[in-house]
Amino acid sequence: MSSNKKPIVEMFNVTKTYPPDVMALKDISFFVDKGEMLYLTGMSGAGKTTLLKLICGLETVSKGSVKVGGADISKLKPAGLQQLRRRVSMAYQDFKLLPDRTVLENVAMAMEVAYKDSNTIQKRVFYLLDLLKMSNKKDTPAGKLSRGEQQRVTIARAAANSPPLILADEPTGNLDPAMTRLVINLFIELLKNGTTVICATHDESIYSDTNCRRLDLWQGQMVTKLET
Ligand SMILES: Nc1ncnc2c1ncn2[C@@H]1O[C@H](COP(=O)(O)OP(=O)(O)O)[C@@H](O)[C@H]1O
Ligand SMILES: [Mg+2]
Repeated sequence: MSSNKKPIVEMFNVTKTYPPDVMALKDISFFVDKGEMLYLTGMSGAGKTTLLKLICGLETVSKGSVKVGGADISKLKPAGLQQLRRRVSMAYQDFKLLPDRTVLENVAMAMEVAYKDSNTIQKRVFYLLDLLKMSNKKDTPAGKLSRGEQQRVTIARAAANSPPLILADEPTGNLDPAMTRLVINLFIELLKNGTTVICATHDESIYSDTNCRRLDLWQGQMVTKLET
């Protein structure tokens, strides 16, 4: 990565301890450039989800600091935090869909809170569902879908608002290789439009043939320093 690019995420010596004494992350420092695709790898329990939660403000650091778009997120006021939530979308490992709402409603919701008009919303939602081969399930309540289908809805919802930063937590964990390809193709499409993607995964097949940078965690620590 060339050094004249602007970072969108920066972590400085971040340690995260969950009470009473679980050290989930220890002394993590790295940055992610705007428009970059970064893979976050490591076994279950390595600290991947915790790291993503720190970036979107769902958890707070115990030591060190996190900057998103140049701003230290621990110093944001409620309005700033609200703005951060609109700019950073997380596709959760455990989905967090509304089970009684349809696929369409779950995806559209992310756009409605950002005051988009209904035409724009419909176009975008149909485009994303089509890409992820979910159009035929658009009127099905999310709670009635298979895990693989729920996973794809979760990703469509995270992408709906075209946020500058998407945090995808094991986005292909329940998908077969063909569906995994669709998700990766969507990420490539988003990257072309300037979105930054941080993708946590333990599926080596999705990053082994890319030249994207990789941050590898082991028991909360960085295995190797990220080259810049
Ligand atoms: N809310 C929590 N409270 C206590 N410990 C937690 C919590 N969330 C995660 N942990 C612990 O922190 C460590 C890292 O977890 P996590 O970030 O979920 O890793 P990964 O996503 O790589 O599987 C694990 O030891 C896990 O048990
Ligand atoms: Mg996790």
